Amino acid sequence: MTKYQFPQDFYWGSAASGPQSEGRYEGDGKGDSIWDLWYKKQPELFFNQVGPEKTSQAYIRIKEDVALLKATGHNSYRTSIQWSRLIPEGRGAVNPAAVAFYNELIDELIANDIEPFINMYHFDMPAVLQAEGGWTNRATVDAYEEYARTCFELFGDRVKKWFTHNEPIVPVEGGYLYEFHYPAIVNLKDAVQVAFHEMLSSARAIAAYREMKQDGTIGIVLNLTPSYPRDENNAADVKAAQFADAFFNRSFLDPSVKGEYPADLVADLKAIDMLPTYEAADLELIKNNTVDLLGINYYQPRRIKARETAHNYTVPMPEDFFETYDMPGKKMNPYRGWEIYEKGIYDCLTNIRENYGNIPCYISENGMGVENEERFIDENGQINDDYRIEFVTDHLKFVHQAIQEGSNVKGYHMWTFIDNWSWLNAYKNRYGFVSLDLANDGKRTIKKSGHWYKEVATNNGFDA
Ligand code: BG6
Repeated sequence: MTKYQFPQDFYWGSAASGPQSEGRYEGDGKGDSIWDLWYKKQPELFFNQVGPEKTSQAYIRIKEDVALLKATGHNSYRTSIQWSRLIPEGRGAVNPAAVAFYNELIDELIANDIEPFINMYHFDMPAVLQAEGGWTNRATVDAYEEYARTCFELFGDRVKKWFTHNEPIVPVEGGYLYEFHYPAIVNLKDAVQVAFHEMLSSARAIAAYREMKQDGTIGIVLNLTPSYPRDENNAADVKAAQFADAFFNRSFLDPSVKGEYPADLVADLKAIDMLPTYEAADLELIKNNTVDLLGINYYQPRRIKARETAHNYTVPMPEDFFETYDMPGKKMNPYRGWEIYEKGIYDCLTNIRENYGNIPCYISENGMGVENEERFIDENGQINDDYRIEFVTDHLKFVHQAIQEGSNVKGYHMWTFIDNWSWLNAYKNRYGFVSLDLANDGKRTIKKSGHWYKEVATNNGFDA
């Protein structure tokens, strides 16, 4: 048995997002986001045709949910404000019902000694702004800055940990490369423009935060996918992995933390005439407004080799530079087809320590999705998710090792708290510490992992 003790004041939390948990209610004043819009247009794309209004009802169950956070040992909770709830038209008038809701949530968390980690953009573009081009349109950056300023003004007295974006690569790849977010088009030029505007908006929010003399910290949440080459001694494989790392990770990590874009990515995109449109002053702004802290979401790595066979796209794609491959012998999550590679979390943290000035960071998401999780319910109605306990334990061991070696890791947030709605996948994969019974008015039951987490948090560590 080894003792895994974590630093004092370590944050034991879990993560969720507004659009995936709040729901929509008569008279709540929320405007449509791209998810409401897309569901109205093409409900058949959503798993079991379940749309974004059918959630865990976080909007109307604040007290109950905060009590559950407490019962599962949380001292932090990460969620997001919905832009289309706070400012239904994307810019202009603020929705008073939204202000009341977020105030109540924040106050209830704080009253229970749970620190709110608040993110401002979790894939939920207001529909009105998408009609004008969304992140492809530079004017969206202005609207986002206005929204961020509104958030700081309204909630900055109590929220001390802000994040500008969650996984900014996902709207890029989902919306403009691989068709799993609205507007589901395939256009690399648009994709890089979206990536640049998101990054610019992040720097603009950080500049505003500091100009408004807010007394807290501001960062960004990035999903880091370490890219491992098939053969470390094969220069073409290594170069392919380096491109995947630059495109999916360093395109946000470098400007966010170092204030500059990776030279190799710029050269590769320039060679195919795929650089975004920008102004010289934008680069200066990004340079001067780097993050205070980083949220790291880690799920699985990328296994990369040099491209050997033509891909199926007829337009320029990132895949022109690399190919993913099925690494023999890799460990898989048997309940959802993703690789499990626990050491990847350590590699991400070590990379931040060695190459990004050991900036303070948090694990802002890490978790295990399970299809048909009802099959693990016992006679008392509890889900016995030993596989999740094992998954989190194995990842925490590597987080612990990174900390021992000097990584500046301040907390761990599991994805997610209560099973939630997940975009096109709706309720296909369950991730929570707490199960959600949709057929029974959203009844919540703490899973075995939730009880286990309470012990871990209370002891600030575990023996294993
Ligand atoms: C994360 C996102 O990348 O993955 C979440 O931040 C999402 O919003 C989660 O729900 C799980 O995704 P999926 O597709 O397995 O349900």
